[in-house]
Amino acid sequence: MTATGAPLILGIETSCDETGVAVVEGLEVRSSVLGSQTDAHARFGGVVPEVAARAHVEAIRPLVHMALSKAGVHSHELDAVAATKGPGLAGALMVGLSFAKAMAWSLDVPFVGVDHMEGHLFAPRLEYDEYTPPAVVLLASGGHSQIVHVSEWGRYTVMGSTIDDAAGEAFDKLARFMGLGFPGGPAIDRESEGGDPAAVTFPRALRDRPFDFSFSGLKTSVVTYLEKAKAAGNVPPLPDVAASIQEAIVDVLVEKTFNAVDETGATTVAGGGGVLANRRLRERLATEAAERGVDLHLPAPVLCTDNGAMIAAVASDMLGRSEVSPWDVEVEPGLKLGL
Ligand code: KG4
Ligand code: ZN
Repeated sequence: MTATGAPLILGIETSCDETGVAVVEGLEVRSSVLGSQTDAHARFGGVVPEVAARAHVEAIRPLVHMALSKAGVHSHELDAVAATKGPGLAGALMVGLSFAKAMAWSLDVPFVGVDHMEGHLFAPRLEYDEYTPPAVVLLASGGHSQIVHVSEWGRYTVMGSTIDDAAGEAFDKLARFMGLGFPGGPAIDRESEGGDPAAVTFPRALRDRPFDFSFSGLKTSVVTYLEKAKAAGNVPPLPDVAASIQEAIVDVLVEKTFNAVDETGATTVAGGGGVLANRRLRERLATEAAERGVDLHLPAPVLCTDNGAMIAAVASDMLGRSEVSPWDVEVEPGLKLGL
């Protein structure tokens, strides 16, 4: 425990292709470091689970040292070690979970297993004290898209989710199809700069289900559209196509988030997950929130994508409620928020 009385927590995140390690004091980030595996996966056009697990094994020790030294903290000062237990890739999760458990055991401090999506939901708390329940939170990552109502920290109602692809997955698959590379979200975000979002009208699915998403139809529609345009020799400029795809995804995410705001009467909206780093999405959420007089809390892009600080933040809250994990806790690749 530090002089402030807040617990000093090491947070480890290894659910997918980023090794994230951070030292957090209460909800204040003392250090946060990241080992990206993007290059290792790029040549395959997507995350290869076995490659991810091996890369985490290589990266985790040096990153833990780096996070501690940047924070100016000795491991013996830590009050707890936390790691993501799910959802995510089993082999990748196992690396972080086992490392964190072993470290906590050897330091004789509690181990806390954390839900990755709760981590994304907590990320804005690292920056905004005013972010308090009740709130509607849009969570959109590579594997999940959900609208969550937070009645109090630790109590969540998932109001809607994707019935097929996650928003990030749609970005990734479409970018790959267009030859824009991996990861696809940042690639489409960049490519769409200066493009006309109204150049092509791609479908907005599930308009009749207020809080759910579907993105697989968009994929089919883009593929069909581009094949036809190529055959006819009139493919629009790539920035226009990228901006139009981005607009179709963003439109749906924004519309459904504010459907949930209308339904619940919440006056606080937040977001988390890699897709929330998208510039157009952030801009559209901000405009909509301002028009309705609703508070919006979006983490800095680096805290939207996977990181260890958000995992430590959840652990900090759990420790405050005396929630620690047993030593035999296992990874839960299919873990679902709020259940
Ligand atoms: O939360 P995250 O870092 O990892 C998972 O939990 O999956 O999210 C990664 C996803 C990827 O699909 C990536 O393409 C997407 O977030 N992403 C973006 C942007 N940055 C990352 N999508 C759209 N625009 C971005 N700027
Ligand atoms: Zn994530």
